Amino acid sequence: MKENMIGSKIIHLEKAPSTNLYAKQILKDKTPEGTVIVADIQTKGRGRKNRSWSSPKGGLWFSVVLYPNISPDQGMLITMAASVSAAQAIEDVTKIKPVIKWPNDLLVNGKKVCGILTELETKLDQIIYAIVGVGINVNNQIDVKLKDIAISLNQATNSQISKVKLLQSILKCFDKNYSYFTSGNFAIIRDAWFSYANILGKKIKVQDEETVIEGIVRDVDDNGYLILDTGDGSTKIVTGDISFL
Ligand code: BTN
Repeated sequence: MKENMIGSKIIHLEKAPSTNLYAKQILKDKTPEGTVIVADIQTKGRGRKNRSWSSPKGGLWFSVVLYPNISPDQGMLITMAASVSAAQAIEDVTKIKPVIKWPNDLLVNGKKVCGILTELETKLDQIIYAIVGVGINVNNQIDVKLKDIAISLNQATNSQISKVKLLQSILKCFDKNYSYFTSGNFAIIRDAWFSYANILGKKIKVQDEETVIEGIVRDVDDNGYLILDTGDGSTKIVTGDISFL
């Protein structure tokens, strides 16, 4: 993989409904792998499970277009590479070490500072494209309704953070981590992920729609799924919202 592939083309928009949606549009024109779309404001920012994602001015809202040569089962590994990259960049720029909360949230002081939404288009056993959307609360005001669960880097550090430096750092980290990934060195990302995640051996509850499962985290497997010891065997968790017990 050539160096600086991620970010080789950057599209900057003042306002967009959602950078993930914009990415989907330009995929029709076969935009090169590594294209980044960044918007100052999103009017219809989206999170996981189709939740809305508050995206006012001052935050970092962007998407990366990738064409990974992997099976859809491994799609989650892309998100892991992205969350490690965001964690490394936040640590690099702010000196604060965020915690990765499985599967893809980054927390500071127990509150969400970054979310990642990876959208895949698949055909048979192949990924046609992946759009990795990253949202980071940088200098933006946190919506009053989210004050108990979300935080900005500005609040956490008591200083204005350069969005440009942060974006540059993430793209550099992501470029490196994605090249580990495509060259079969996923173990490096997995180790880095564990160093931020602090989840092994913890008792957790996983909620997915109506289903709730409790257990102790024994591992995150080669596809990025959680392996839980539920007391009567081990269970693989593919998706859900976790909380610590
Ligand atoms: C989540 O935690 O639920 C994921 C949030 C992802 C938000 C980002 S912001 C840039 C990109 N565009 C979107 O509409 N969503 C992602």
